[in-house]
Amino acid sequence: MQNNIFSGLFIGQNLVILKEVDSTNTFLKNMASNSKPVPEGTVIMAEHQFAGRGQQQNGWFTEAGKNLSFSILLKPTFLQADEQFALTQVVSLGVVKALQNVAGNDIKIKWPNDIYYGDKKLGGILIENSLQGTKINYSVVGIGLNINQETFPPHLPGAISLYKILHRDYDLKALLSDICSHIEGYYLQLKSGKLARINEQYLSNLYRINKEMMFRSAGEVFNGIITGVTARGLLKIDADNEPKEYNLKEIEFLINP
Ligand code: BTN
Repeated sequence: MQNNIFSGLFIGQNLVILKEVDSTNTFLKNMASNSKPVPEGTVIMAEHQFAGRGQQQNGWFTEAGKNLSFSILLKPTFLQADEQFALTQVVSLGVVKALQNVAGNDIKIKWPNDIYYGDKKLGGILIENSLQGTKINYSVVGIGLNINQETFPPHLPGAISLYKILHRDYDLKALLSDICSHIEGYYLQLKSGKLARINEQYLSNLYRINKEMMFRSAGEVFNGIITGVTARGLLKIDADNEPKEYNLKEIEFLINP
């Protein structure tokens, strides 16, 4: 479907809105792996996802019709496979900047790509890359954000929505369009090689950077300070003045210990 609510050059120019789907990421991955070419920037949005997928093999559950669940097809063929964290950075930045315009600067990126408001999770990102040799062939960028959901089940005490922040509903399509145009802006910066500038902006919007907090790694609880990220996306933490680097499976934030 062609549409005119998107102001960017290519992200969202081809928009498909589905009433119901298992997962917009799965749907778009199937489309992209078929022989018919799918234009870069295609967005698949679902009013209801009944088998949404999250990071680390988790599920992603949201109330039908109230939230944003969508996936974007990108073709960052200019990136090497070992540069894929840069894509995580531009997508996180795009989402956070669009949301900061609505809800202020308490919206942050929790490493590597969760969207936080204060100490609560507003949304998440699942990027699935298809590699060809050492290059990225295409990426399916899945974004799930809690927007107009008023309540959360007791097993999700750490979740928040825009509704809970603003105390009013927000127009889903207007926000989708704004997020897509912000992601496009950062993506084009990445394409033109401004990696250092992107990293700088990512760090300046990173949750709890340079603040002492508690972590758990390999069963051990310790105090440390996030100082940055590596080019491959490892989290840098200083503990007792000793710098260390962690991947997602190796480190847990103890937010409410
Ligand atoms: C996370 O675990 O924090 C990532 C959640 C990503 C959810 C989104 S919703 C749209 C897209 N389709 C999916 O199945 N997952 C992503």
